[in-house]
Amino acid sequence: MGLDFGVVVHGGAGSPEDLSDGCKSACLAAFRILEAGGPALDAVVEACRALEDDGRFNAGSGSVLRIDGKTVEMDAAVMDSVGNLGMVMNIRGVKNPVAVARGVTRTPHVALAGRGAEAFAKKIGIAALHEVSVQALERHEKVSALLKEGRLGEINPLWKDIGPSFFSGLSCDTIGAVAVDGNGVFAVAASTGGAVPMLVGRVGDTPMIGCGFYAGPAGAVAATGIGEEIIRRMLAKKVYDGFCEDGYVQSECRDGIALFAADIPVGLIGISGKGYSVSSNRPMAHYAMVRES
Ligand code: GLY
Repeated sequence: MGLDFGVVVHGGAGSPEDLSDGCKSACLAAFRILEAGGPALDAVVEACRALEDDGRFNAGSGSVLRIDGKTVEMDAAVMDSVGNLGMVMNIRGVKNPVAVARGVTRTPHVALAGRGAEAFAKKIGIAALHEVSVQALERHEKVSALLKEGRLGEINPLWKDIGPSFFSGLSCDTIGAVAVDGNGVFAVAASTGGAVPMLVGRVGDTPMIGCGFYAGPAGAVAATGIGEEIIRRMLAKKVYDGFCEDGYVQSECRDGIALFAADIPVGLIGISGKGYSVSSNRPMAHYAMVRES
């Protein structure tokens, strides 16, 4: 099997399958760009923008709150196999962090953070958004209740005392998309409000190259799950390096998931010239559209 072009979208490790309609709409929007001969990078940005605007996913308008109960800080990244790379970290008050990351690819820099990223977003015309979603408020109430019970250790970065069921029921985690276009260019985009619970200022895997995302001549990979664990394993680059060996994405993504203990939610999507894969140790809403030859 060979792919002429195609796109795969996920709604985050732990996202229920009944959110797949959101992934389908995002995928369709991206696929139309590819069908019209557009670049893979535009397609993945469009897919992530749709999921950021959906409100049910932990990204953009659906982003979760930090542990203070009032702050939303988001991360996003884009990359393709022809040298485009952009990352934003800890950005507040913008509707589409993925569009800011895309904007960064047009500057001499590859990463912007915090206030500078927000000023840049304003300069390039990214809409502001200061509302917090109902889901984010509900999730935060659960975090607060657990805090009161003394079940969150403030200095434990993995909050292990919470347990896996808490994470899987509470947070959809990152959204992401991978694509290949008709010219054989691969691209990835990812966006997140972070992992519940987290301190203000915390940055996860999503805007870290080789951890939450990677794209190169052999394919593209997007990861989702608890960022600290993904970063320790440099997951996306590790899986991508497997693509370079033989181009078979299914086994590489499966092996990537197997690097994690069962109580760590993690998911991967990958695409190469030979096919695509969706792997996760939790439910994960997703959708794929490909044209094969
Ligand atoms: N995977 C999203 C995060 O940990 O921030």
